[in-house]
This record gives sequence, C-alpha cells and structure tokens, in this order.
Amino acid sequence: MNIKTLQLQNFRNYEQQSINFDKGLNVLIGKNAQGKTNLVEAINYCCIGKSHRTSKEKELISFDKENAKIKVIAQKNAGEKTVEIFLSKSNKKIIRINHLSILRIGELFGNINSVFFSPEDLRLVKESPADRRRFIDIDLSQMSKVYFYNLLRYEKILAQRNKLLKDGLDAIHIKRGLDVWNEQLSQVGAKIIYSRIQFTNNLSKLAQKVHSNLTDNQEELILSYTGIQGDSVDNIYRELFMMLEKNVDKDIQLGYTSVGPHRDDIKIAINDIDIRSFGSQGQQRTTALSLKLAELEIFKEENGEYPILILDDVLSELDDFRCKKLLNNIQNVQTILTGTSFDYDYPATKFQIENGTVKKL
Ligand SMILES: Nc1ncnc2c1ncn2[C@@H]1O[C@H](COP(=O)(O)OP(=O)(O)OP(=O)(O)O)[C@@H](O)[C@H]1O
Ligand SMILES: [Mg+2]
Repeated sequence: MNIKTLQLQNFRNYEQQSINFDKGLNVLIGKNAQGKTNLVEAINYCCIGKSHRTSKEKELISFDKENAKIKVIAQKNAGEKTVEIFLSKSNKKIIRINHLSILRIGELFGNINSVFFSPEDLRLVKESPADRRRFIDIDLSQMSKVYFYNLLRYEKILAQRNKLLKDGLDAIHIKRGLDVWNEQLSQVGAKIIYSRIQFTNNLSKLAQKVHSNLTDNQEELILSYTGIQGDSVDNIYRELFMMLEKNVDKDIQLGYTSVGPHRDDIKIAINDIDIRSFGSQGQQRTTALSLKLAELEIFKEENGEYPILILDDVLSELDDFRCKKLLNNIQNVQTILTGTSFDYDYPATKFQIENGTVKKL
C-alpha cells in the first residue's frame, strides 16, 4: 500500500499543509526542530491512533489553536482508504474512515498499516521487556482487531486483580475474589500469548534470513517467546491458570500479578548467545534493523501487501554499510524517511521541511 496524500491543519507546527507522496522513497530534509518528526507522527497517528511521542493528544494541536485535523489518503490493493482525525482541545476526537465515523479506536487498525522506525528502536534489543512487548502488540493489533480488543480486556481484568491484591483485605477475602479474576485472566491471556508465540516464531524465521544477509552469513539470529508456553490456546490457558493459582501467596505479598503476558519477553540470541546481555552495540543495532525489516515481511505475508515504512532520523544513527543495506532492502516499500541530509545515490522524491512548511525539491 502507499500513501498518496497527507493534509494537516493546525497539527503541531503545521498550519495548513498538503503533501503528495511518491510510491517509492520519500525523503524529508530539514534542520532540527522544523517539523520532520511532527509530519511522520501525523501519518503514524492515522495508522495506529496513537502518537509515538505523547499520550496527551491535546499536545498535537497547534499551541494557539482549538482544533486540528489530519487526513491521509492511501492506496491499497483493495482500493482507496481515507482516514481523517479531528482533534479538539475541548471535545473528544473524531475518527472517520472513508467518511464514516468510527465508534471504537480498534476499528482504525488495519486500514493503513505502518512500520515505524526511530533511533529509539535501535535500542529495542537492550531496552526493557515492556518495549519488546509494545513492539509485538502494535504489530499484532494492526494485523488483528480481535487481538487489540483482547489486549484491552486483559488490561482491565489485570487492573481489577491488582486492585484486589492491593486493597489490603485479609487473605481469605482476597483468595475468594481471585478465583474469578484468575479464570478470566487466563481465558483472555491465553489468546494473547498464543498469538504472540506464533508471531515470534514467524518473525524469527524472517529476521534470521534478513540478519544473515546483513552480516554476510556470520550470525544466526533466533527469537523465542519467554514466559508461559504452549502449542494451543487450551494448553496455555491451563498453564497460565495453574501459574496464577500457584503464585497467589506471592502476589498477595507483592501486591500485584507476577505472571502472565504482561510479564513476558522475547529472547534474542545470536549464535546461541543472549544478545541482550552479551551483544556488542553494533550487533544489537543490526539485530534491531533485522527485526524492523522482518516486520515488513510479516505484514506482506499477512496482508498480501507491504505496509508503509517510516524511518525517522535513523540513517544518522547507522553506519554507511548498514544504511546502504537498509536502502537496498526497502526498494519495494513506500518509505518516508527524515533526516538533516540525504547523501545517497538512490532515486528519491525529496521535500524540504522548514518551520512547518513543506516544499517539493
Ligand atoms: N503543539 C504544537 N504547536 C506548535 N508547535 C509545536 C507543537 N508541538 C511541537 N511544536 C514545535 O515543533 C518543533 C519540533 O518539530 P519536530 O520534532 O518535528 O522537529 P524535527 O524537524 O523532527 O527536528 P529534529 O531534526 O531535531 O528531530 C518544535 O519547534 C516545537 O516547538
Ligand atoms: Mg525529529
């Protein structure tokens, strides 16, 4: 798929702007603080309904304005998709897909898919398990609305279970209450874990291929899901339920739930060595790059077409060899890349970003 047009109104430092993108590589060049990240933030917001920088959506509206609007028109194999988001400092936001308002944010997922890559992602490998879970959750939510709703439901049940654990009632009361939450948490949690295991195994296969290419066959990259295991939702359900029951006393003592998908992680190994603890910085960065490129392939397998790739300022963080490998790998993917310069000999449509205005070069 590709984005044909982006229109912004009072979004961050953009007052009124319309941009037509090319199907291939689009490069947004500009000095610092001119609006490059703001622009890709707007695109990604139309894909996943969230900003990668803030959870306070009012910050997205220009300082001195009341309302903002973002509109993206994308071309997919199945036809054109228009996503419009209206933000207001005093009212709830409105999202329209092909001119019809949606009621639940989950309905936005899967309309325009994106893979977002920023310098923070280069640290994905060594960051906390929460970052890697977020990485899987965003992808799986884009691929399956059911997954996204299960995740929301899981978080709600988990919050209720944790509240009970923290409420300071006596152990007998807590244990009685936990029976209900353990059952519900295992039901939903098992579905989440099952999807994540499948995703991780698939990602592992694809990332292995990419990584092998990036390292001239020197390194074998293997990913595995760590936490509750099982080869079916039923098996995982039983395992998770058993673990929750087993850890009741520990959880009461801790005041929170110590097992479940909210605690799981992905183990990343190169040539059988845990790269998170023992990898060099270069290896960790190459691995992050492999994961991002493998993400593109997963979307392609899942949807029959590539998502949009957004590369915010990543080239400045990669060495020349990795930059070229990256650019070679994305020739069939619409890419929107930002940077303060672009000195590579690749065909690209270039735009100059200056103080919230865009000029095609
Ligand atoms: N709500 C807002 N209203 C108006 N301006 C805003 C708003 N939010 C951010 N800005 C402005 O946007 C600018 C930052 O834009 P952005 O982060 O896109 O820069 P950038 O071009 O990506 O720079 P860098 O190269 O440093 O990453 C800042 O000058 C900031 O003041
Ligand atoms: Mg930026």
